[in-house]
Amino acid sequence: MSRKGIILAGGVGTRLHPLTLVTSKQLLPVYDKPMIYYPLSALMLAGIRDILIITTPQDQTAFKHLLGTGKQWNIRIDYAEQSAPNGIAQAFVIGADFLRGHSSCLILGDNIVYGHGLPDALRRASARDQGATIFSYWVDDPQRYGVIEFDGDDDVLSIEEKPQNPKSNWAAIGVYFYDGEVIELVKQLTPSARGELEITDLNVLYMRKRRLKVERLGRGFAWFDAGTHDSLLEAAEFVRVLQRRQGQLVCAPDEIAFHNGWIGAAELKELAAKVGKTQYARRLLDNLR
Ligand code: G1P
Repeated sequence: MSRKGIILAGGVGTRLHPLTLVTSKQLLPVYDKPMIYYPLSALMLAGIRDILIITTPQDQTAFKHLLGTGKQWNIRIDYAEQSAPNGIAQAFVIGADFLRGHSSCLILGDNIVYGHGLPDALRRASARDQGATIFSYWVDDPQRYGVIEFDGDDDVLSIEEKPQNPKSNWAAIGVYFYDGEVIELVKQLTPSARGELEITDLNVLYMRKRRLKVERLGRGFAWFDAGTHDSLLEAAEFVRVLQRRQGQLVCAPDEIAFHNGWIGAAELKELAAKVGKTQYARRLLDNLR
């Protein structure tokens, strides 16, 4: 059974000023493309073509307007609602009918991950059909995240959500691969002190069964949780610098669909035409030179 993808773009824990959010933050641009393009690109790079996007009820129309059914990329996009910010793990309660026993990859709608070798790391995780695989990244401010403690090897000793005294600098990033059992395991969770079904608690269940694998993303990677005003700007600047220096796009679903062989040159030209006389369109067309 092929792996399915879920992007959680609900109103979870937003730290942006509410008046700046006339629309969902995941529809705000990160430099030259909407934020949701970045997690969507990661799923597509993992080879996943069947995707559920979970949004707040009020934002769903805008997401549908932007992404449609996915047929422009020869993928399939479904939509579901999270009516209140009840936690990341709730994605597997909401997405149970969509997954129907399939393995999955969940990505948070505001997470941007980029780096040489990322497609390989994602495909490796996707190819494992037993247990869970999560990714870890060294950060300066681990207390903001789920924090992973390792023993000398790659064995996980603990994972703690936003600890005051972090046991390491290794943050759990918002990209999670699970086997089909996730739907059963999520039923064991109860809301945390902040009233959420915590993704960290779900990962702890896998850890206790010794079925959790953590891939550490080294220095050559970039990871942003674009959920604050500062990280939103920093992520945009990162994308701008790379794209201007290399003349290549960072996380463009149109281009990834083309490189994956899911669409051909004619379809790529149509997609470029839709975005008008932009640099984004020109860079898409560069793929045909
Ligand atoms: C959530 C998770 C946390 C993870 C982070 C990654 O935090 O709870 O474990 O490290 O996403 O972005 P939140 O967005 O709820 O602050």
